Amino acid sequence: MKGIVLAGGSGTRLHPATLAISKQLLPVADKPMIYYPLSVLMLAGIKEILIISTPRDLPLFQRLLGDGSQFGLDFSYAVQREPRGIAEAFIIGADHVGDDSTALILGDNIFHGQAFSQVLAENSRDVEGCVLFGYPVRDPERFGVAEVDRLGRLVSLEEKPARPRSDRAVTGLYFYANDVVEIARSLRPSARGELEITDVNRAYLEMGRARLVDLGRGFAWLDTGTPQALLQAGQYVNTMEERQGVRIACLEEVALRMGFIDAETCYRQGARYRNSPYGQYVMSVAEQHGYRLAISA
Ligand code: G1P
Repeated sequence: MKGIVLAGGSGTRLHPATLAISKQLLPVADKPMIYYPLSVLMLAGIKEILIISTPRDLPLFQRLLGDGSQFGLDFSYAVQREPRGIAEAFIIGADHVGDDSTALILGDNIFHGQAFSQVLAENSRDVEGCVLFGYPVRDPERFGVAEVDRLGRLVSLEEKPARPRSDRAVTGLYFYANDVVEIARSLRPSARGELEITDVNRAYLEMGRARLVDLGRGFAWLDTGTPQALLQAGQYVNTMEERQGVRIACLEEVALRMGFIDAETCYRQGARYRNSPYGQYVMSVAEQHGYRLAISA
């Protein structure tokens, strides 16, 4: 399975914070926002990841993340020239997807929860159509909304409906079979001039090939859309990290645990940021996984 992170948009709801820099590069607690969605793809076992951003911001993502080899990953980059919609990611990324299935995650979506890696592993295997992840929210009208029947089967999908039929938001993580590229190419722009991801998902629903996985209570799907939501997301991450002494979305740690890198590589990465608590954490994780500094006599 291939991965795509879409990190475009102009972040107008966060102006002036995003006047000079992409929203997905802003810090959430101790690390750039894009680390969080990247960690999700990594936990799903995905190593080949395409990062899509605006012409202005793409070089910054490249400077931050490089070719991905430091995490045992393979990053490539592509530009979305205009904000023409989330579904355009599959057209831009057609070569990257090739003959494979694909996971798309929005660069501003933060997920955190017990056993999430299991949920990801179970649902990324043999994707036949599309797999969506639903999450109950207080304000569903701000999102894609999924309606399910009494048996839990998906019956409707709507993008930002004025009158939502349920409180289940469709989160910004999507798994698709290979024909998503073809489906995206067949879409017409919506009234706001975008290729809507909800139209892609509806195409699968009409074919009887869409599935919704509920991420229920006890799970955090955090919003970063407004200054307050961004701050609250940072506070959530900080609270969890301080309390448990572990870090959320520490890419070096995820890479080590997934077997993408060894403890020595992990340590060397941490040592690059030895002045920051993040770097020190990465070094300590490497040590816990057996890395010993060679001490010359
Ligand atoms: C997009 C999608 C929406 C989804 C949301 C998740 O909305 O169009 O269906 O629920 O992401 O973050 P946007 O945030 O681009 O308005």
